Amino acid sequence: MSKATFDPRRFNQSNNTPFAQVMEKHLSRRNFVKRGLGISAMTAFAGVGLSACGSDDNAVTTTPTTPTTPTTPTAPTTSSAVLGFDSIAGSKTDAVAIPAGYSAYVLAPWGTPLNTKAAAWKADGSNTAEDQANSVGMHHDGMHFFPLNDAGDDGLLCINHEYIDEDALHPTGPTFDTNGKRTIIDEIRKEINAHGVSVVRIKLTNDMWEVVANDAHNRRFTGASVMDIAGPMAYTSYLETRYSPDGSQARGTLNNCGNGSTPWGTYLTCEENWPGYFVNKGTLAADQSRIGIATSSTRYGWDHLAGDDDERLDEFSRFDITPVGANAAQDYRNEANGHGYIVEIDPYNPNSRAVKRTALGRFRHEGCTFGKLAEGQPITFYSGHDSRFEYLYKFVSDAVWDPADANSSNRIAMGDKYMNAGTLYVAKFNEDGVGEWLPLTLDAVTTNGSTLASTFDTQAAIILNTAGAADLVGATPMDRPEWATVDPFTGSVYLTLTNNTKRTEANTANPRLKNSFGHVIRWDEGDSATEFSWDIFVFGAPAAGDAETNLSGLDDLNQFASPDGLAFDARGILWVQTDNGADEVTSYTNDQMLAVVPSTLVDADGKQQVISAETQAQLKRFFVGPNDCEVTGFAITPDYKTAFVNIQHPGNWPYSAIATEVTPAGMQVRPRAATVMIRKNDGGEIGV
Ligand code: FEO
Ligand code: CA
Ligand code: CA
Ligand code: CA
Repeated sequence: MSKATFDPRRFNQSNNTPFAQVMEKHLSRRNFVKRGLGISAMTAFAGVGLSACGSDDNAVTTTPTTPTTPTTPTAPTTSSAVLGFDSIAGSKTDAVAIPAGYSAYVLAPWGTPLNTKAAAWKADGSNTAEDQANSVGMHHDGMHFFPLNDAGDDGLLCINHEYIDEDALHPTGPTFDTNGKRTIIDEIRKEINAHGVSVVRIKLTNDMWEVVANDAHNRRFTGASVMDIAGPMAYTSYLETRYSPDGSQARGTLNNCGNGSTPWGTYLTCEENWPGYFVNKGTLAADQSRIGIATSSTRYGWDHLAGDDDERLDEFSRFDITPVGANAAQDYRNEANGHGYIVEIDPYNPNSRAVKRTALGRFRHEGCTFGKLAEGQPITFYSGHDSRFEYLYKFVSDAVWDPADANSSNRIAMGDKYMNAGTLYVAKFNEDGVGEWLPLTLDAVTTNGSTLASTFDTQAAIILNTAGAADLVGATPMDRPEWATVDPFTGSVYLTLTNNTKRTEANTANPRLKNSFGHVIRWDEGDSATEFSWDIFVFGAPAAGDAETNLSGLDDLNQFASPDGLAFDARGILWVQTDNGADEVTSYTNDQMLAVVPSTLVDADGKQQVISAETQAQLKRFFVGPNDCEVTGFAITPDYKTAFVNIQHPGNWPYSAIATEVTPAGMQVRPRAATVMIRKNDGGEIGV
């Protein structure tokens, strides 16, 4: 569980719940037939080809192609993938569990040296801050594989590092003086350096992926790396600091949780629970209280060594954002304004700087996923704000997609083209299975009949307090939006709503009170940028739950709770990962990854179905993580022969390079978050 990083306070104090109790309505809608498919096919999904696959071989030989003629309506297409493994039982051991016929190995665990500046990882926790700056970070989360050749045996793995386990990071945990203040500079620098993103060159040799030490692509982005600001916030007074008086740069990326990628080959890392890293001991501004900036102390005490003789460039002072100078250029009152964004990284260019794409909003971003592409149409990016009662957003680019841009060698310029100018929207789910995307622009009408311009004077002011603007237009408060992903065949978008045990008033998209188990919602875009249609694909639940709890008819072989990581591969297989804390399911299994092929769940009329008692057997458990961990982050090679999955905050693992090897009873290893590479013993494709 990520309890250590999830902030349980309620920040959304608005009352955007304009729905009556709708559980009854919802239940009667459970087999709602999506009506958005035809619309979707017309607008964005035309021309997706799938040649017939009459083979009795489960291997999928055809993948969707980028549409080239977005005008002719065609019927939704269907994946030919058939899951070819038996759903595995739950597991509660210090090891991972996988289906028969597969093998799993540990790759790039925390502390793996990336270059010669780093000493080898030491099991006593004594590596230095300098070692950490040049080694793989801690608490792996979102991830993407970027191929370096057509053979599929060479590539770059980008890995998010969400937060740290200080007890594992240091020999005996963090050091404090008698006043509860941090005292050791190298410890704090090591913690900052364990955050961020790793770019790791990996190669397949003798059927095993290995990290290529000292490769020129290997690099770290940490909680201190200098990054550029782009979009509406760039060069505004909101970002003026003593370090960057012109508001053009910010230092570090923090709490990088879910991820995304772009059609032009860059990585997107998402800043989630960053507000607690900063403290304002004075009066909070409206945006600061809305997002939850800390008021008494920072999460790890990084500000404690502010003013130390050995401090460099205010590296610790910047986390205390209490105004102390005569103006913003003399202190760090605006330091937190440089956080809360989608950050773009070009993994192929080791000399490039990361860019914070502020047009996509500022909140606790879980992930960032682009919608189905169509030439000549805008690109859409989806991102959820993971806190209780927070919202789902999308950004629609002003620029329209040119497939030639996929091959540009100036990838950051492509980000400038598609991610700096556009319209940010927030979702409102209505009772009838349709919804509205509400623009967050100065002329957007608020629920009281005014406009956002009466509260905000610029688009940058809206971005700074994105959630506050969304409150005013009447967005639907959700049960903690986590990852979104897009079905490559139907174009339907799926979003995990992990849980919300504090919900006391249902709304149609979040129909369960005290939602301990979470659900996955999906939608299709409509004819205009402001329309969508939606339904709930599956509800998490314990198998033993009663009919009102186990709404999707799950059994032991697929019961799950708190869906979080979510990813389609290009074959149309949806991978669902969990970050669960509900005892009813943890008593049966550790966190896990399941698979299903949603586009094949159709009725006689070809309409997409949800997971129900009739279809639930199609949802299969593929992977279970070791004790105490969260399973998060999914990547797969273009040949589908290796899947990568991250294990975050394991308790007593890994014991060896073989991920399935159980740590012997009575032995305690220093736990290391790690990527697990999964291969099929016969060399075939994963999952089929
Ligand atoms: Fe970091 Fe919302 O999971
Ligand atoms: Ca996590
Ligand atoms: Ca997550
Ligand atoms: Ca989570």
